[in-house]
Amino acid sequence: MPDVGFLNGEFMPLSQVKVSIEDRGFQFGDGVYEVVRTYGGVPFQLDAHLERLERSAHAIHLNTSVHSKKWEEWVREGVARAGYPECKVYVQVTRGVASRDHLFPTGTTPTVTMSVREMHPPDQALRQAGVVVMTMDDLRWGRCDIKSINLLPNVLARQRASESGAFEAILVRQDMVTEGAVSNVMMISAGRVITPPEGPHILSGVTRQRVLSLARKGGISVEERNIDLGEFRRAEEAFLTGTTIEVLPVVRIDDAPVGNGQPGLLTKRLHSLFQEEITS
Ligand code: PDD
Repeated sequence: MPDVGFLNGEFMPLSQVKVSIEDRGFQFGDGVYEVVRTYGGVPFQLDAHLERLERSAHAIHLNTSVHSKKWEEWVREGVARAGYPECKVYVQVTRGVASRDHLFPTGTTPTVTMSVREMHPPDQALRQAGVVVMTMDDLRWGRCDIKSINLLPNVLARQRASESGAFEAILVRQDMVTEGAVSNVMMISAGRVITPPEGPHILSGVTRQRVLSLARKGGISVEERNIDLGEFRRAEEAFLTGTTIEVLPVVRIDDAPVGNGQPGLLTKRLHSLFQEEITS
């Protein structure tokens, strides 16, 4: 099978999945999602992703309890059907199809969709060279902990960064760094890993959690606290975390190099620890 699609319990080629224009995801962005990848063909941290999906759904009053037991099976089946060496799985649940009205519809069932495509990890050259980030105002809403499909501010931020030659936008709210448009952000200062705390202004990344626990296990101190933009600019090292990028060094923030302008040693060590975890 080519790219795999899934709609409300049924698998089909991705190109054949059709959803009504009256789906609330399409009209209101009224839904939640997850992105999971495989290593060795096995979905990585699937439980953590599915738990977050439940949390996000619950936070927007979307009842997905009927699906919760099935997701694991659906994702595994999707991966098996796709048969790629590595897969990127996108799952989405919306409030369903109803005539357009802001109020929640009654008697509508959620629309559950999934796509399974081949996973192409970021270029090794990019990882070795490190990436440039561009800081900008965080224009998102006050519940960034919900993995909502409303991603317009993220889309605009990443596009603006890309048009300026940066890989990622680093979002700043009232002078405090929050996260990237599609990633979490961490910095190193005096040998410690520092990252903004969980809360309504960031998505609690599955990779973030894993990297912090690897750091702690590896004897590296971790501080989860606010970082103001000035401190971020003075970081000895900085990096991004996310499902598809793993641990990606940042070598330049706007016009200034981070540290000596090369991927940092602790960043590299954390990426190696992450790699060991995957292959173990
Ligand atoms: N994004 N913060 C934001 C805003 C994100 O969109 C993501 C991931 C992360 C990292 O979370 P995790 O480690 O659980 O992947 C942080 C996914 C990959 C996306 O939207 O494509």
